[in-house]
Amino acid sequence: KKRIGILTSGGDCPGLNAAIRAVAKSAYNKMDVEIIGINDGFKGLINKDYKIMKPEDFSGILTRGGTILGTARTPFKKMRKIEEDNVDKVKAMVINYNALALDVLVVLGGNGTHKNANLLREEGLNIIALPKTIDNDIWGTDLTFGFHSAVDIATDVIDRIHTTADSHDRVMLVELMGNKAGWLTLYSGVAGGADVVLIPEIPFTIENVLSALKERYNNGKNFSILAIAEGARTQEEALMTRKEFKKHRRNLKDPSISFSLAQEISSRLGFETRVTIPGHQQRGGAPTSYDRVLATQFGAHAIELIEKNQFGYTVALENNKIVSKPLEEVAGKLKTVNLDNPLIQAGRLVGTSFGD
Ligand code: F6P
Repeated sequence: KKRIGILTSGGDCPGLNAAIRAVAKSAYNKMDVEIIGINDGFKGLINKDYKIMKPEDFSGILTRGGTILGTARTPFKKMRKIEEDNVDKVKAMVINYNALALDVLVVLGGNGTHKNANLLREEGLNIIALPKTIDNDIWGTDLTFGFHSAVDIATDVIDRIHTTADSHDRVMLVELMGNKAGWLTLYSGVAGGADVVLIPEIPFTIENVLSALKERYNNGKNFSILAIAEGARTQEEALMTRKEFKKHRRNLKDPSISFSLAQEISSRLGFETRVTIPGHQQRGGAPTSYDRVLATQFGAHAIELIEKNQFGYTVALENNKIVSKPLEEVAGKLKTVNLDNPLIQAGRLVGTSFGD
């Protein structure tokens, strides 16, 4: 009997259960297998917290948000650090992998998870990773599951903001998730017809944002919508190191970029402004049909790799094909929005300001 361990790690997102189900159902159909569900991400592997799964555990979960296995953030930096608890976490994971007699461990996660997964691969464990995140920022794959669902949620927020902005003649700022990558804000901003889209990859100036808003009012529009990634930065901030930037933000009256920008807009242009932050709603609820399909394809592909004893890979989407990429190539790299991204060009053509 093959023993497959499975865990979900990092921030949750819609589509995790669809992927877990796909791994499990493909495995049960293809091989004689026992599936071991590790609770709450790598933390569960460190603490040997697991459950032996039954086929019925994977029924009825395709459409469910969140993860039936639970998840936790286990920062890569802390993996090698032996803290007060005196546990060598990497060693503990290797010991528990062997104690559970696993043939392979399937990990579903984002960037941090891929780094940890690669660390375990270097320790000689058989690992397969599946890329999930609403941020869509994993290197080597055109898309991650979870992203599409989050784009739909964020677009719906912008749509709803539109009608109230229009009624009240207000400038409405919608702050969306995405600390280092602006994919979610770019896609939902364009889909929702935001007038200004601010993402970390395109540092903005306040002057440019103000002049875009003025121009709109001069053209007879009584309201405006700004879609802002939580990690959007001014051109001045972009010159700072990550550490300086974080310190600078902490020192602001309100470390969220949207509130300080809203303040500037109302004090300098006299427009009434409001800020909306949908926050973790963007990670909740049922996956879209697209994400269900992608997660199912990724999960099924993981089992094809396991069948061929091919380990140390992450599954990816490349030019509409499901492929696999060596973990060492993917781990530690971030996929941010390129400035020549066609959606930025299209946005500019339809009159969206990126504040640059
Ligand atoms: O990586 C997904 C993400 O939702 C980011 O967009 C966001 O910056 C972060 O996670 C929020 O993390 P937490 O789960 O700690 O609130």
